[in-house]
Amino acid sequence: MSKILKVVGASWLQTKISSYILGILGVLAILALFVGQIERIQEDGNYAATVFYSEKTGYRIEYWGQSNELANIPKGVARAHFRTDIDTTGWSLVEVETDGSYPDEIQAYAAGIVEGALTWYPIHTHLENTIRAKCDDTPLEKQCNKLKDALDKSVDTWKAYAAERASSDPYWHQVSLYYTQMSGVYTGWKHGVERRMYEYETDISDLYWLNSVNEVLEIQHKLNITINDAALDSLPGLSSAFLRIANETTEDGSSTKKLFVAQNAAGRYTSMTRILKRYKLNYHSTSNEESKPVPGISIQFSSYPGSITSQDEFYIVKAENHEMVVTGTPLRNYNNKLWKDVNITEQLPIGPRITAANHLATNVSSWSHLLARSNSGTACKQWLVVDFTRFRNIHNYTLRTEAKSIHNEPVTERTVNEDVRHTVVYRGNNGHAKGIVGLIEQVPGLTHSADISDLFMEKGYWATYGLPFFKDVAETTHINKMEEKHGKIFSESESPRAIIFNQRYKNATSLSSIIKLMRNNNIIAISRVNNETKCDGNDCIFGEKGYWEVLGARGDMIENQREAYGIIDTKVVSATLNKTSLEFIAISGPPYTEIQSNDSIPINKGNLAPIYTKEFDNKANINGLEIRDLVKQQQEEAEQERKETLELLNRDVVQPFQWSQSEFENMSHKGLPDKWAFGKFSPNWSW
Ligand SMILES: *[C@@H]1O[C@H](CO)[C@@H](O)[C@H](O)[C@H]1NC(C)=O
Ligand SMILES: *[C@@H]1O[C@H](CO)[C@@H](O)[C@H](O)[C@H]1NC(C)=O
Ligand SMILES: *[C@@H]1O[C@H](CO)[C@@H](O)[C@H](O)[C@H]1NC(C)=O
Ligand SMILES: *[C@@H]1O[C@H](CO)[C@@H](O)[C@H](O)[C@H]1NC(C)=O
Ligand SMILES: *[C@@H]1O[C@H](CO)[C@@H](O)[C@H](O)[C@H]1NC(C)=O
Ligand SMILES: *[C@@H]1O[C@H](CO)[C@@H](O)[C@H](O)[C@H]1NC(C)=O
Ligand SMILES: *[C@@H]1O[C@H](CO)[C@@H](O)[C@H](O)[C@H]1NC(C)=O
Ligand SMILES: *[C@@H]1O[C@H](CO)[C@@H](O)[C@H](O)[C@H]1NC(C)=O
Ligand SMILES: *[C@@H]1O[C@H](CO)[C@@H](O)[C@H](O)[C@H]1NC(C)=O
Ligand SMILES: *[C@@H]1O[C@H](CO)[C@@H](O)[C@H](O)[C@H]1NC(C)=O
Repeated sequence: MSKILKVVGASWLQTKISSYILGILGVLAILALFVGQIERIQEDGNYAATVFYSEKTGYRIEYWGQSNELANIPKGVARAHFRTDIDTTGWSLVEVETDGSYPDEIQAYAAGIVEGALTWYPIHTHLENTIRAKCDDTPLEKQCNKLKDALDKSVDTWKAYAAERASSDPYWHQVSLYYTQMSGVYTGWKHGVERRMYEYETDISDLYWLNSVNEVLEIQHKLNITINDAALDSLPGLSSAFLRIANETTEDGSSTKKLFVAQNAAGRYTSMTRILKRYKLNYHSTSNEESKPVPGISIQFSSYPGSITSQDEFYIVKAENHEMVVTGTPLRNYNNKLWKDVNITEQLPIGPRITAANHLATNVSSWSHLLARSNSGTACKQWLVVDFTRFRNIHNYTLRTEAKSIHNEPVTERTVNEDVRHTVVYRGNNGHAKGIVGLIEQVPGLTHSADISDLFMEKGYWATYGLPFFKDVAETTHINKMEEKHGKIFSESESPRAIIFNQRYKNATSLSSIIKLMRNNNIIAISRVNNETKCDGNDCIFGEKGYWEVLGARGDMIENQREAYGIIDTKVVSATLNKTSLEFIAISGPPYTEIQSNDSIPINKGNLAPIYTKEFDNKANINGLEIRDLVKQQQEEAEQERKETLELLNRDVVQPFQWSQSEFENMSHKGLPDKWAFGKFSPNWSW
């Protein structure tokens, strides 16, 4: 095991050098044991590898190349396969499985190595497109180094702290495994690069950053630096999540219910090196090998190269007794006083907290308790946690009767966690549908969570779109002050996006209609109406209807201050009552509309068309000719009408984003497809 030396208070360079030296030593030790690859001739695109371990020889990786029967890949401690279909589907896949008979720390490290080694190339291009494009040899370099220093310090602190407690405390054990897995990714990444004899620099601080992407916004406020685009950070988050319960008629005509969870993630287009991952990590509740297995073994999520959590925060956790889907959408804070409660060395960053919650929670309520613990105040989010197992067994619970008001949400518990400076409010409710949906809003110093199952079941839908539902969260983040100042775009109930969900949820009852809703973007129609509004400065961004009045926002198409930023994916999970399987689909890339073709428009042949038959053709008398001419004329008119209809329909077509056709063609987008016209994708997992 390579242990990262704790260098508290050292500069980034010092830390970097020491981790570099350690890295070299670690890799040298491992390298001696790596065995050369066996490449196969046929190519099916599935690259596989296995990491073996023995006490005597340490870790050893075997690359199996492509075209293996995946089921037969030797298990070792950890095996993985990787396939990159980003050019055809918009997604790559990584699947990692570990053997639970090895100690957890060894599983975690091996899981990291095997992923890092297989995905070293996307890690490289992703870094080039994102962090290195932003930081290397730019005026921001110093600020970037300040951030990296803070991340290094945080990792060093928590790694040591968690390791000390891993033998007795399940929470810290999971935190420790998180950091071990990340170290493994670094080792594997470095090995992957060296094996191909590339001259790329591998920097562990870059990897920490890839695992903290969704926390940078809050950390930079704390450090008084500006790395992200300040204007975009001032917007309420553009991501949204949508839950829907709908009636469905089955094939045999009986009626059943279907539950959908959908999420859009907002991000920079340069970050679209997307990977869907599934980890099957057979961990135990503590580092004691005799301890029982954790509940959350299998975790599927949408992610990015190098990151062992989702970053856009979408997870499907499968366990023996529950199946939970977790979505997180960002919340913004406008209260400068709150930044004092952000500290990633005093309290735990989001990555390990979410990992612990996913592995250890047994229900919606315990998930929120775990997330609340040691809140670093980074990655402020609204979380929706949905337990599909509870939903499927809904017949075991009787729904609350209408008589009770839906506004009746008793506060059952209010605790102030003494260890950390932050308030945690948990609210249960008396309903019997309890445990299907939890809502958690977390900002610096405050976590507020509630079981909203009954509210959701009665409303039929729930949506989060970057505006807090809980009043105390709206107050402490000054969202309510922003509403007074800038208007409805900051209103939880009256913002344009709240209204879109409220008006359109009724028709969103199937996979295709939900996708249509989530990816809706009528920006061309909006700008046609609004193009007289000219503005300057930061207020522009608040006046930008292309960001507010659509769910599938695209910053490359707005009127002012265009940015290669917007919605970059949509994920939907659904399940039917009493059925065991979940369906999962994901769409990669910014939303666009399909071009309406001729086929979609019925031909209006006119009233005369039915009598235009062959008989008239044969009887070439005056009347027949007249009728025929008339019909022909009508047909021509109909054709014209059809053309116009088509033009009208296609007038508002939003074209797929294409780097080479955009004003962002010179931004670094190595390894990314040029044109983003992808459809629904459903991953196939092997293990
Ligand atoms: C933050 O940095 C700016 C300059 O970048 C400086 O003017 C300001 O005083 C700093 N604020 C704090 C609280 O250190
Ligand atoms: C769904 O079905 C239930 C009965 O199964 C019915 O009471 C309810 O009104 C239906 N909801 C809608 C929106 O059609
Ligand atoms: C689901 O299963 C329960 C118990 O088997 C049954 O009572 C209920 O009618 C079923 N619901 C549907 C929609 O099939
Ligand atoms: C976090 O808290 C520690 C201990 O109180 C302090 O030394 C450190 O400066 C804080 N970090 C930041 C970024 O303020
Ligand atoms: C959720 O899980 C926790 C811990 O396992 C347990 O104490 C609690 O009773 C459970 N709550 C519900 C509502 O099932
Ligand atoms: C729900 O009821 C079914 C029988 O209808 C039973 O098999 C199942 O274990 C119950 N589930 C829960 C969570 O109580
Ligand atoms: C919902 O669908 C119905 C029937 O297709 C349509 O008439 C109605 O306008 C739709 N409502 C919305 C808000 O789109
Ligand atoms: C929008 O702008 C275009 C050209 O920039 C102009 O021709 C058109 O009349 C404008 N439409 C409105 C509604 O102002
Ligand atoms: C529609 O059909 C007409 C003739 O039938 C053809 O000229 C035109 O190209 C078609 N348009 C599209 C978009 O397919
Ligand atoms: C991209 O760079 C090329 C070459 O420097 C230049 O000709 C082109 O105009 C640039 N494109 C954009 C959109 O700035």
